[in-house]
Amino acid sequence: MIEYENLLKANETFLKDYSEIFQKTLNSGWFILGKNVENFEKEFAAYIGNKHCIGVASGLDALIFSLKVFEFKEGREVIVPSNTYIATILSILHCGLKPVLVEADIRTYNIDPFKIEEAITPKTKAVMVVHLYGKCCEMDPIISICKKYNLKLIEDCAQSHGAKYKNRISGTFGDVNAFSFYPTKNLGALGDAGSVNTDDEKIAAVVKSLRNYGSEKKYYNERIGYNSRLDEIQAGFLSIKLKRLDEINFHKRKLAAIYLNELKDDFIKPIVHPDFFDVWHIFNIRHQRRDKLKEYLLKNGIKTEIHYPVPPHKQRAMQGIIEGEFPLSEEIHKTTLSLPISFWHTEDDIYKVIEVMNKYESN
Ligand SMILES: Cc1ncc(COP(=O)(O)O)c(C=O)c1O
Repeated sequence: MIEYENLLKANETFLKDYSEIFQKTLNSGWFILGKNVENFEKEFAAYIGNKHCIGVASGLDALIFSLKVFEFKEGREVIVPSNTYIATILSILHCGLKPVLVEADIRTYNIDPFKIEEAITPKTKAVMVVHLYGKCCEMDPIISICKKYNLKLIEDCAQSHGAKYKNRISGTFGDVNAFSFYPTKNLGALGDAGSVNTDDEKIAAVVKSLRNYGSEKKYYNERIGYNSRLDEIQAGFLSIKLKRLDEINFHKRKLAAIYLNELKDDFIKPIVHPDFFDVWHIFNIRHQRRDKLKEYLLKNGIKTEIHYPVPPHKQRAMQGIIEGEFPLSEEIHKTTLSLPISFWHTEDDIYKVIEVMNKYESN
């Protein structure tokens, strides 16, 4: 059986270092907002190239704080891709704002930059892009639109640690940029974790306060804050993994190249282009009879996943909230299938998946 993911295997190579930092943190007797968090924030800011990184409790909280800092009035609009994980849209709703969904480009699965302008109204305040599956959005036209209409740009980098567009790393395009370190991510913790990255000192100070009850000075509260702190133990684990993030990404790139070269053309493969340095958080193909293909692969010992089976606008929670029709997103959700591509998979594993897939006769 080739599993889709196995987090024990994905972390096996780090276990000794994890045990050491766990013991060290335990012995320090300091578990919230200490040296480990400070160190990781410095290291991750340096890795991405931001002036500030603020560790928070999850990617969703990172997105919520990325919007909160602008204090947009209730009901103002934020443009967001229709083809994303629901967390992106939830963050907008949690801030009392209106998500305005824009269709995906069916070739990249990311927001279609040429459909953004028609979604702008006098109430539009920001564009929230998502670099889905580990591929950056086409940022040049998006940046131009944000400048032209004076919109804030927020990046959801939950799936794009280390991904680049025209040699520029994701997390450096937006006014504020949100990361998730959910365990399955390319940079994953051993629990929930996230960060907000920015070059803006004022924004950084507000996020620091928001994550800690709205307090800058202990027991003095400046704003209505949250308890959303990255904890010392997770920060320690993340520092260990960050040192090998490039290795993780390069391994996944090598596996993706094998899929791209060897899979037969019956499957719609992701496009690659020299402008994009993809880190393959997810490697998906599309197929008209996706569910049958998934079943066939499982019968032949290969586990796959679907990212995602139901588009956000079709979720029950969104009924009466999301306006518009998004046939391309629906098409993607109906046909997409994610193949094994974890850090621990070997080239042999990938060749085995390919062998089984290339024998598949669809009719
Ligand atoms: C695109 C995207 N945005 C946001 C999130 C939310 O991150 P978290 O699960 O850490 O809250 C995820 C995560 O799973 C995601 O894939």
